[in-house]
Amino acid sequence: MTMTPEQIELVRKSFDGLWPVRRKLAKLFYSRFFELAPESRRLFPDSMEKQNLKLMDALAAMVGALDQREMFQAIIMHSARQHAQFGATPSQFAAFGEALMWGLQQQFGPAFTPELREAWSTLYETIQCKMAGTRGA
Ligand code: HEM
Repeated sequence: MTMTPEQIELVRKSFDGLWPVRRKLAKLFYSRFFELAPESRRLFPDSMEKQNLKLMDALAAMVGALDQREMFQAIIMHSARQHAQFGATPSQFAAFGEALMWGLQQQFGPAFTPELREAWSTLYETIQCKMAGTRGA
């Protein structure tokens, strides 16, 4: 699925707004993810402080490269290889996406319009397809 230029702009602007609250958002997000996929918890370190920032930095890199096709692919493929080693499964990727969308909804509230939701979910599908697709089910 390809994002339209309008969707890229929507994701970018909204991500800028999230940056100041990225720690809080990542915390919220991972707590939801571990509820949805409890078996994933043991794959992560006890303290999630660093991971929270790593996730947000990775998202920033992806969002920043949305209009540079080759750079975007390279970032995703790098991440895909890492996650194949971590043993992340397609069903965990689905839970991850659900947690992400839920976290964004919590953060934006009514500002999470259907258009904004659609833009983020298209982005996540693109990432998920490439990252989870490198492994079998
Ligand atoms: C778009 C989706 C995802 C993004 C952007 C993302 C991003 C990241 C990043 C940036 C790291 C740090 C890598 C490093 O240390 O250099 C990481 C680590 C990790 N991720 Fe993900 N991740 C995603 C999905 C998932 C999913 C679905 C799982 C499923 C369990 C997962 C499991 C892990 C694990 C186990 C680690 C290593 C933690 C550690 O031992 O420090 N990730 N991820």
